[in-house]
Amino acid sequence: MLSLAEMATQVLTTADGRAKTALSRQHAATWQAARARGEAPEIGKSFPPLNPARPEAPALLSPKDMPKRKPGNPAGRIALLHAVAHIELNAVDLHWDIIARFCDTPMPIGFYDDWVKSADEESKHFNLMCDCLEAKGSHYGALPAHEGLWRAARDTKDDFLGRLAVVPMVLEARGLDVTPGMIELFEKHGDTQAVEALKVIYAEEVHHVAYGSKWFHFLCGRHELDPTVAFHDLVRRYFHATLKPPFNEEKRAEAGIPPDFYWPLAEEA
Ligand SMILES: [Fe+2]
Ligand SMILES: [Fe+2]
Repeated sequence: MLSLAEMATQVLTTADGRAKTALSRQHAATWQAARARGEAPEIGKSFPPLNPARPEAPALLSPKDMPKRKPGNPAGRIALLHAVAHIELNAVDLHWDIIARFCDTPMPIGFYDDWVKSADEESKHFNLMCDCLEAKGSHYGALPAHEGLWRAARDTKDDFLGRLAVVPMVLEARGLDVTPGMIELFEKHGDTQAVEALKVIYAEEVHHVAYGSKWFHFLCGRHELDPTVAFHDLVRRYFHATLKPPFNEEKRAEAGIPPDFYWPLAEEA
């Protein structure tokens, strides 16, 4: 069996989206089977690439060059699903990257269990979005995509706590704010496949944010940091925008992110 860090780097260096998620799910299953047998597989070491391998399409554009989406028409809704697929593919890489990138920091095995489970779910989410696009005669890669999503990973490549603050606790938490509106939009247009897929994503993303909060608090405890103060410092340092209300306060609370974490960062706007 490969070490977990080696598995992670294999996923990160696989370019094609469906191939990446297939490998991700296979490695997750291998890890989970070993854990179910009561084993603690080796975490090991590896050298993840600074940027993950990506397919030739979609073309990656800066946000200002991205065409405006009009979700009122079918083409606009395909563009929205395409954007979600792109976010999910980045999420697959982000989950494996944190495992490989910070493998020098000793962590309880439960940390790896959580991240492997989330990586597996992100892979499922990407596949669900691809299924929706393909059912509409499109596919991932048919439209341009946002180039900036990996920036948070690069900016926090040397800062484990910063990575936890910005990726699960800011970016994935943002997903909790916006997904109910998307579900409503596809419901309004009678798109059952998209509604069902987005409901799966919404339910599982709560856990990803919760894992982020759990391990952020764990590391703050290890370094005797005040979690609220540390969160504010790290988000100001690494996240280059203010947080945008409205917030999904209920789901954020369920995921272990209290209002005094995010409101002060929004009010600075
Ligand atoms: Fe996801
Ligand atoms: Fe997620």
